Amino acid sequence: MPLSVEDAAAILRGGDICAFGTETVYGLGADATNADAVLKVYQAKGRPRFNPLIVHCSDVEMVASLVEMSDLATQMAQFWPGPLSLVLPMRRDSGICDIVTAGLPNLAVRIPAHKQARELIKAVGKPLAAPSANPSGKLSPTTADQVIKGFGGKVPVLDGGDCTSGVESTIIAIHDGELVQLRAGALARSDIEKKLGRSVRLAAHDSPISAPGMLASHYAPNATIRLNVTAPKPEEAYLALGAAPQHKGRMCNLSEAGDLTEAAQNLFSMLHMLDGEGVDAIAVAPIPGTGLGEAINDRLQRAAAPRG
Ligand code: TXA
Ligand code: MG
Repeated sequence: MPLSVEDAAAILRGGDICAFGTETVYGLGADATNADAVLKVYQAKGRPRFNPLIVHCSDVEMVASLVEMSDLATQMAQFWPGPLSLVLPMRRDSGICDIVTAGLPNLAVRIPAHKQARELIKAVGKPLAAPSANPSGKLSPTTADQVIKGFGGKVPVLDGGDCTSGVESTIIAIHDGELVQLRAGALARSDIEKKLGRSVRLAAHDSPISAPGMLASHYAPNATIRLNVTAPKPEEAYLALGAAPQHKGRMCNLSEAGDLTEAAQNLFSMLHMLDGEGVDAIAVAPIPGTGLGEAINDRLQRAAAPRG
């Protein structure tokens, strides 16, 4: 029997973990005020403790009870509900347990656009800490089935359907009154800049305000990945975008129309699919760096990086 929102809420209220769908990727949730529950998330994922978690809220009131909302943060709140995580100073009375932020003074918060996810948070009545619902370092899941397979059926999942964005949220910190992007994601940096009429800086790699969990090798499929390929080798599976070259081997197209929103939505699910087929090597077409291309290229570069 599939879980209902109430079933999932009861699991989470009881201090256990439960995966749920959002518009970006599936999250592995726990009550963010319960240290024992949050610990189970780190354990299930095999996630290093220094890598803090994003806390999911049902509405702006819940957000404001956890973090200090500056004027600029309030302006950024216009993108909620949506695929944006804001890193803001945590309130002393937030009730969020220390391991959620890995001891940092700032908390990452977001209000998902996915209606069922917000209903779940409301039903629990607590903010939910939720990293992507994959074993640490592996591909993020965009379907309930991928979560079940990823954890060998050991984690309960509230099925929220296929994720519509397909890449994780954009993470923005506010530093000295400036917007700093810590992770490219499903909300394009250029869209934020257009709406707010101000620029969004990229976090320097060695900056103390970068997201601590941004490891070079991440989002890794089992297959090796080769990027910016226009002439794939016959033994490689080819991940194309737009008009594709002749290819004798396996081929998937992220978007035949060359649409980056569609490509982002398909990225992880196609990598999961090729992995499932036991493909050894994947060659990927060049992806433009504009709009959502920034997030797609970020994920592909981490997937292609030497594995540690
Ligand atoms: O779309 C998403 O953001 C998904 C869904 C489930 O909401 N979640 C997600 O979580 O991608 P995760 O754990 O896979 O990635 C969270 C990232 C990590 O790189 C972490 O370092 C960063 O957010 N992060 C979390 N809290 C932070 C903080 N207080 N300061 C800086 N970076 C933080
Ligand atoms: Mg993740």
